[in-house]
Amino acid sequence: PNAAIFISGRGSNMMALVEASRAADFPVAFTLVVSNDPAAAGLEWAASQGIATLAVDHKPYGKDREGHEREVDAALQAAGIELICLAGYMRILTPYLVNQWTGKMINIHPSLLPKYKGLHTHERAIEAGDAFGGCTVHWVSEGVDDGDIILQAQVPILDGDTPDDLAARVLIEEHKLYPAAVHHIYAR
Ligand code: GRF
Repeated sequence: PNAAIFISGRGSNMMALVEASRAADFPVAFTLVVSNDPAAAGLEWAASQGIATLAVDHKPYGKDREGHEREVDAALQAAGIELICLAGYMRILTPYLVNQWTGKMINIHPSLLPKYKGLHTHERAIEAGDAFGGCTVHWVSEGVDDGDIILQAQVPILDGDTPDDLAARVLIEEHKLYPAAVHHIYAR
């Protein structure tokens, strides 16, 4: 199956997915990288790997989130995409796109869901005095960071950790977890 990766920024999880997909037993081929930000650093890397890229700037759509999604969705259909991996895609999705892709769209979130949905997850985990932080790959549903969990990984929170320290420790796990989660869903 063909899969797409959605990014808004540097795309380190995208790189981890693409690199993992070179293994002969990887279940999908990443054939399209989509960004809502034409300046996203990850787009150039994807193109350098021979992957088709699509930037659909959300700004001209203003408040018309669904209009933006319809343009993106048309490109996904045209490319024969069967799985979407959100990887640092910083747009809240409307029910339109979520419903189009139910059971075919997954996301990575840098916390041990259901704790710390939304932003500033590492700061919030440290602030709460948690012993562990981590990351979650989950199915995308209408609620933000709210769908069924596929896989999680945890890391210790150490004395004196800053949010950046914890983010870096979690990111190492994200890069392993996301490819593992794609394997997991096709192993069912
Ligand atoms: C990751 O921490 C991911 O969990 C979160 O946004 C960050 C994206 O980083 N949703 P990158 O663009 O994959 O490097």
